[in-house]
Amino acid sequence: MSARRRSAFWSPAQAAASLVQLAYVERALAHILAGWAVKMPAFDAKLVFAAQMHRAMERASLLRSRVNGLCHATASEATVPAGWRTLLSQVDRAPAPSLLVAAVYRWLYPQLMALYEAHGRETDPDGDRPSVDLIRTFLPSLESERRQGLALSAKRGDRAWLHTIEELWNMRQSGDPLSLESALWGPLDRVPAATRPAGARFCPQGSLGLLPVDPVHDPRDVGMFLHKELDEEYTTLELMARNSYEHPDMAWAFHRDMARQACDEARHAVMITRLLAARGFRHGDFAFTTSSYDGLYAFEPCPPGSRRELLWRMLIRQTFMEGLAVDNLAYEIDHRRAVGQGDIAAVFDYILRDEVFHAQSGLRWSRELLACDPQSVLAEREQAIACFTARAEAARESYVMANLDEAMGELTAIQEGRERRGGKLPERPLNRTGRRQAGYTDGDILQVVTWGYARDDAGQPAGPSAPPG
Ligand SMILES: [Fe+2]
Ligand SMILES: [Fe+2]
Repeated sequence: MSARRRSAFWSPAQAAASLVQLAYVERALAHILAGWAVKMPAFDAKLVFAAQMHRAMERASLLRSRVNGLCHATASEATVPAGWRTLLSQVDRAPAPSLLVAAVYRWLYPQLMALYEAHGRETDPDGDRPSVDLIRTFLPSLESERRQGLALSAKRGDRAWLHTIEELWNMRQSGDPLSLESALWGPLDRVPAATRPAGARFCPQGSLGLLPVDPVHDPRDVGMFLHKELDEEYTTLELMARNSYEHPDMAWAFHRDMARQACDEARHAVMITRLLAARGFRHGDFAFTTSSYDGLYAFEPCPPGSRRELLWRMLIRQTFMEGLAVDNLAYEIDHRRAVGQGDIAAVFDYILRDEVFHAQSGLRWSRELLACDPQSVLAEREQAIACFTARAEAARESYVMANLDEAMGELTAIQEGRERRGGKLPERPLNRTGRRQAGYTDGDILQVVTWGYARDDAGQPAGPSAPPG
């Protein structure tokens, strides 16, 4: 990217035309990774996809601002030829995870890096300095992302299919001009169940899952407790990524929030894996659960793929469950530190900081979908939780009918846990500061306290977890 002597560099309009294509490729890359994270069997791939989805989305955002800066003075809009959409949606149509990895890391990343390098060579190094500086910071990240991606699969890809992509690459500048915001494609599939590695063992549907009797003092139960937490990180990563992928017409800021959260969950997964390893356990030592993805993907009253379905996912996972995480983590941090588990306390302390943002994002976007009407938020949350709870109860009933001995064993484990705590129910104190920082209203807080899921410090005690509704 040396500023060699030459007769003419690109004009601002040409620079903007190049930048908007780069922004589009980055945005489309984030979109593809968001759609595929849940379909990748390997956990490593999910972590890589979530982190890179976020990075690509952030690069796209910086480029988009730069494009807007170049187009503002002339009230013009830089557009992307529809050929780009045809090309990149074909990558998304990969017939298998290994072929997707080959297309993204053996083909798309090198093309993207070459486009960045071409921009650096052709643009005016003084007139378009902000873009040149951005590209200088992007290229090393892209190179390391490509290497990470290549490590996921050794397959070189299907030749005929890669040939189709090559042909579409040659046609990329054809077709109608599209605005950056409207140039993505709709979801190509529905994915109602999260993919796990071949041969994975799962907790049976309707069972109470892993039941650590003493998750504080017993080493194996501490491992089981962390294993459950790890599954929550992965399933949330997957659900947030799909929320972005399945709703490309939501606002740009929504996708940034979803990408950030997917990436946060990936970091949480890495930290919890580290805690497990320090105790001699690995992910897969206990049965997996994917209920926080599979059980929150679709709801009978919501048309598949609808905004209401998206709203219910956010209300339950982000504003309800992650709200409870804000409460529980604050309690766990103090408790774990008090019993000498400083490493768990420190990890949970980091997770808590992110969890407040996740709840905040869920509150923001669910309110946005309900025209900022607080009563509608409460009413929709109540309906969503009632539907979710009713379904869980039905699954529980069938499990108990078919597995009486196992169900009795579960009750015994719960009873034993209670005895070890001196007969007390698990602590669920409300974290009022955390909830306030996340943006919960008095009405939101009263709702969760009234349902019995959290004990209000201001006086209202938590009863048993009565199903709301
Ligand atoms: Fe998390
Ligand atoms: Fe979270």
